[in-house]
Formats: sequence, structure tokens, C-alpha cells
Amino acid sequence: MNLKYRKTIIAGNWKMNKTLTETKAYAEAIKPMLGKHKWCEVVLCVPSVNIPGAVRLFRDTRVAIGGETCHYEASGAYTGEVTVEMLKDVGAKYVIIGHSERRQYYNETDFTVNKKVRAALDAGLRPILCVGESLEQRELGVTEELITYQVKVALAGLTESQVRRVVIAYEPIWAIGTGKTATAEQAGAVCSHIRAIIRKGYGARVARAVTIQYGGSMNAKNAAELLSQPDIDGGLIGGASLKPEDFLAIINAANQQG
Ligand code: PGA
Repeated sequence: MNLKYRKTIIAGNWKMNKTLTETKAYAEAIKPMLGKHKWCEVVLCVPSVNIPGAVRLFRDTRVAIGGETCHYEASGAYTGEVTVEMLKDVGAKYVIIGHSERRQYYNETDFTVNKKVRAALDAGLRPILCVGESLEQRELGVTEELITYQVKVALAGLTESQVRRVVIAYEPIWAIGTGKTATAEQAGAVCSHIRAIIRKGYGARVARAVTIQYGGSMNAKNAAELLSQPDIDGGLIGGASLKPEDFLAIINAANQQG
């Protein structure tokens, strides 16, 4: 973390979990415990159908609500999809783009990810852009090359001020939902590499301002160590964001570094 230059962002990714009723119970449990998380921004990315409800439930807090994906077209015959304007209109502030599950199960490519990032920024949403290597790619020693490619294509065509608004989440696929976390050094090294890519493409000032998260089995126990890495500015948290007390422990770990 580096609080002088950039915001720490702790974001939950609920994936396909929780009904609106369960969202309400979660909000009731976590709200009294939230306190003043003044150092970090807290985001909950929830299933599209529950965004309006979540926005309402967290209206009196500083928790921002986000979507988990979006389409890049403004409207049209794309059964089941939602546009960035729809997300914006119901109160979302963030949207996760290019999560490895979307890439794996819904054929998202680096090129569609780029279109989505642009659409989100044009609509005034902050994209949480996910990148990360598989175990096979890590073992082959191509992690840095792959991340470079993913980041460069995803950000292609953006202005410097747009890049500043992109949150980049480094999520090694082998660490997602597996309980296998990257070590703080492994995660920190890739996040530093991502910042170096931004520095090369957009200059030192932009690179310094971009929030880079780690994601992949982040939990109450390992959060503090991961967040102590200079280039890890927060987390994208799946499983551990589903329980109010676990998510809160991660928020507190971020606050304590301030
Ligand atoms: P996890 O998921 O924390 O359950 O590993 C992270 C993610 O997929 O964003």
C-alpha cells in the first residue's frame, strides 16, 4: 500500500451467491461493525439483479456497490446481458471486468475485455480489471509476459486520465477459490510488474496513482501480510467476502496499515 499516492480498495466479489433476502441479512450484520474505514474504499460487487437492493441497503454507508460483468454495446439483441448504463442507472459505481471465470466459462477475450473497460469508463463506472496466469503458465515461466499482454490489450486506446481510474486486480487463477494463496512476495512481485507496465506506457505519475489489488484466497489471516507489499493496494475477495466478520477483518487489516 502507498497511501500518499493512491487509494486502497477492498472489494468483495460475491459471484453467483446470495439472494436479496440474504443480502439484507448481510447488510444488517456488517453495517453496525463498519465504523470509519477512512483509509480504504470498500466495494461489494453483487449479482446484477441485486444491485438496486444492495445500493438501497448500503445507502447510509460508504460502501460502494459494483457489478460483476457488463456488455460493451450500448443496447441490442444480447439476451441476458446488461449494459454499463443500466449498471450506472441503478447506482453501481464499479464493475468487475475480465474475471478469469468469465474468461473461462463465457469466452471473454482480452479484446472484449478492452471494449468493456472502455464502455465502463465512458459511462463513468470504475472498472476492476482482472488479470492473472494459470498454474501451467506460471510453471512455464511466462507469467510476466502473459500479464504484460493482458494489461496492454485491456488498456489499449485509453487516455492517461482514464487509466488512472482503472483498478487492476492481479488474480492468479491457481489461487482463486482454492485456499492456495500466492505468497506475499509472489503477489507483490507481479503487482510491481503491473505498475512497471503502466509506468512504461503512461508515465510515472499515472503509475503511482493506479490502485492494484491482489485476489485469490485472500482472507482475514493473510490480508495484512499481502497488503504490506508496497504495490498491493487492496484486494478482490471472493469466498471471504461472503461472511461479514471475515470481510470486516480484511477491511480492518487495510485500515491498520494506514
Ligand atoms: P477467492 O476469489 O477469494 O474466493 O479466491 C477471488 C476472486 O475470484 O475474485
